[in-house]
Amino acid sequence: MARVVTIGTKKGGVAKSATATNVAAVIALSGHSTLLVDIDQQADATTGLGFDPYQLDVTINDLFADPNRDPMTAILETAIENLHILPAHPSLSKTETGMGIQRADPGAPDPMTSLRAILGPLGDRYDFIIIDTPPSLNYMTRNALAAADELLIIASAGAHTENGVKATIEAYEQTKRDYNPSLMLRGILVTRMKRTNASTAVLDALMKDYPDLVLRQVIMESTAVDEATQLQEPVVTYDPNNGASLGYIKVAKMIMGGRTNA
Ligand SMILES: Nc1ncnc2c1ncn2[C@@H]1O[C@H](COP(=O)(O)OP(=O)(O)OP(=O)(O)O)[C@@H](O)[C@H]1O
Ligand SMILES: [Mg+2]
Repeated sequence: MARVVTIGTKKGGVAKSATATNVAAVIALSGHSTLLVDIDQQADATTGLGFDPYQLDVTINDLFADPNRDPMTAILETAIENLHILPAHPSLSKTETGMGIQRADPGAPDPMTSLRAILGPLGDRYDFIIIDTPPSLNYMTRNALAAADELLIIASAGAHTENGVKATIEAYEQTKRDYNPSLMLRGILVTRMKRTNASTAVLDALMKDYPDLVLRQVIMESTAVDEATQLQEPVVTYDPNNGASLGYIKVAKMIMGGRTNA
């Protein structure tokens, strides 16, 4: 059965998509059959692997629209061996609105488990399923929590980080209680770490408040990540010896080994 890992946090621009893409790439390159699932209407993970969502015939949005549709009809092979993607589309915003309407209707089926139903038949096909989520604790992200075995929270080493982490932990606890009792929290990965006092202060504050959760492995800020993003390729293949790449390789190994801080 696939191990399903949701990458998420409420805050935007903190490297969720970079983390999901690079961790998925490392796991795939290690020989595991891996699926990257993009449920963000911005479709950054989809674009990041070289696909234009507007040019795709079928995306995950079609699977939300038609629960009987075979999910394999939306899945694409990527340039990276063993890595497939279930791409996103901007029209996911309409699905998000529809889920809100559905939730308010007591006679309608609960929309919180739609993604779990989509991924169900894929559990036997993949070793790992990595889900990239939008910068919001919306229905899409809560679907990703309901569908996952574990959550990796992303926190950038910048201002206003703590509130996003706190709200994400609350959403995790709520989803675990109401939908997914076996959901676990792998930890908090600090990204975009700079060698500045401001960055160190954010890391120190997170370590003080969440000593058991903050991963000791951080991801350094590096222009190579931006360069790779623009070239629509993960930094781990663009520049494998870069500091950020080495960090992502260690985080991916932690996830593959089911470990935290070891
Ligand atoms: N370690 C890093 N060093 C330098 N730039 C980075 C790093 N990680 C991410 N970035 C850059 O920061 C920007 C945001 O990253 P990314 O898209 O992964 O964040 P996100 O959390 O998924 O954003 P959103 O909330 O919009 O989905 C991108 O331009 C990306 O290239
Ligand atoms: Mg993103």
